[in-house]
Parts: sequence; structure tokens; C-alpha cells
Amino acid sequence: MIFKDKTVLITGGSRGIGKSLCLAFAKNGCNIIFTYLRSKTESEKLTKEMKEIGVEVESIKINLKSTKEIEKLYDYIVSKKMKVNFLINNAASGVMKNSLDTTEKHWDWTLDINAKAPWILSKKIAKIMPKNSRIINITSPGSSKVLNNYFSIGVSKAALESLTRYMAVDLAPKGINVNSISASLVETDALKYFPNQEDIKSILERKNPKGKKLTPDDIAEVAVLLCQEKSNMIVGQNIIIDGGANLVLR
Ligand SMILES: NC(=O)c1ccc[n+]([C@@H]2O[C@H](COP(=O)([O-])OP(=O)(O)OC[C@H]3O[C@@H](n4cnc5c(N)ncnc54)[C@H](OP(=O)(O)O)[C@@H]3O)[C@@H](O)[C@H]2O)c1
Repeated sequence: MIFKDKTVLITGGSRGIGKSLCLAFAKNGCNIIFTYLRSKTESEKLTKEMKEIGVEVESIKINLKSTKEIEKLYDYIVSKKMKVNFLINNAASGVMKNSLDTTEKHWDWTLDINAKAPWILSKKIAKIMPKNSRIINITSPGSSKVLNNYFSIGVSKAALESLTRYMAVDLAPKGINVNSISASLVETDALKYFPNQEDIKSILERKNPKGKKLTPDDIAEVAVLLCQEKSNMIVGQNIIIDGGANLVLR
């Protein structure tokens, strides 16, 4: 129960990596506030599962595309006098197209949800965070490498990694550590939307030096590590979780 009496706010907690994050923090005694957009039934199931673990759970529907909704979420948290020790900007969306077929609308959609929303939410939540707090942004290697049809998401993740560094410097004096976790491909619903399924399959099948397939729980466990006091001097870093895959030239 390392996080007893602490609270984490996780965006996009209803499915995939977000769900693993919720369960990993709940199992460590952390109270959970998680957001979802469409997955109402999954969110209700997850809420029940976490309450049975013995932690307090709030699930909140929000579209992160809207700054007004982010402000409403913040106002709700403040009105309920909830404290937030950890914020994990996990939710993401995006239009799967290459740079030439991507329109301005696609760009705005993806960048607003994946980069602007984490920035605005972090700025707001930082105001009510106590000392020894953490903000973690979930990013991907598509920020610096090219994956077909990942253009707008890759660009948004590059922005997210950069804002991690800027906010880390601005928030470190307030006792808030900001870092990002960059995960290699893991099997979640998100992968089903790639038009180039062959590429995805071959990346998923590629062996990493650990010889083990990456899972959403691997990412969640690193987030748990980063939220412990022992990680106090890790500031503004992008932690790559891929079992060493990026070290091998292919
Ligand atoms: N899967 C991978 O291989 C991989 C690799 C590297 C990094 N990542 C990153 O890890 C994070 C989670 O990925 P995932 O694969 O678990 O994704 P996922 O299964 O597609 O889940 C996405 C989550 O984000 C929420 N969401 C989507 N659009 C939203 C919006 N406009 N407003 C609010 N919430 C919204 C969804 O809520 P609803 O279900 O309620 O709509 C869902 O909870 C993302 O940041 C992703 O970029 C994933």
C-alpha cells in the first residue's frame, strides 16, 4: 500500500494502457480519478473492480478536445476538495494518415487532444498538487521515428515530449516532477485502427533483447516506480520501455 492516502488522476483510464495504470495504482492503495469518453460500460466495470480492491474511485466523462471540458474537470476536482498527487496524461487519439493526406482538421484534432490537453490539464492540476507530486505523459517512439500513417500522432508525441521538458523545469521548484514514458507497440484497441496492419504485425513480432513481449502492465509498473519518492531526482526525462528493442540495429 505504498500510495495509501494518495490520489492519481489518469486520463483515458477506461481501456488499454490506461486501464492497466488504474489497476496498478489501485493495487498499491492509491485512490483513483480516471477519465473516459465513450467506454461507459468498461468504465463502470473497472470502477467496481477497483472499489473491491478497497480504494476510492471517481470516473469522469470528458472530451479532452475541449478546453472548456478540461476546465470543468478541474473545477469539479477543486469543488470536491480532492487533492491530486499524481497526474498521468495517457489518453490519446489521432487520424491515421501520412503527412500528405493529413488535413488541417486532422492535425488540429490530434494535436489538441494529444499535446494541448496534457499541457492545459497539467498547468491547472499543478496548482493543487502538494510537494512530491508527479506528472507523467505517455508518449511513443513515433515522436522521433517514422511509422507509416502515424504522422499527426508522431508530431503530437514530439510536442508532448518537448512540453515534458519545459514543464519539468518550470514545476521542479514547486516539488512536482514531470517525466514521460515512451512505450513501444503494445497490443491494445488503438492498433486496430492502423490501415497498415502488416507493419504493425511485424513490429509486434520483432524480438527485443529481453525476449519478452511488452504488455500494458509493463508500462503501468514504470509509472508506479516514477511516482515513488525514491525517483525524486528524475526530472524531465523520457523513459523508454521496449525491452531494449531500440538498441538493436535492423
Ligand atoms: N498501444 C500502443 O502500442 C502504444 C504505444 C506507445 C504509446 N502509446 C500511448 O499510450 C496511451 C494509451 O494508448 P492505448 O493503446 O491504451 O489507447 P486506447 O486503447 O486507444 O485507449 C485510449 C484511451 O483514451 C481515451 N480517449 C480517446 N480519445 C479521447 C478524447 N478525445 N477525450 C478523452 N479521452 C479520450 C479513450 O477513452 P474511451 O475508450 O472512453 O473513448 C481510452 O480510454 C496513448 O497516449 C498512446 O499514444 C500506446
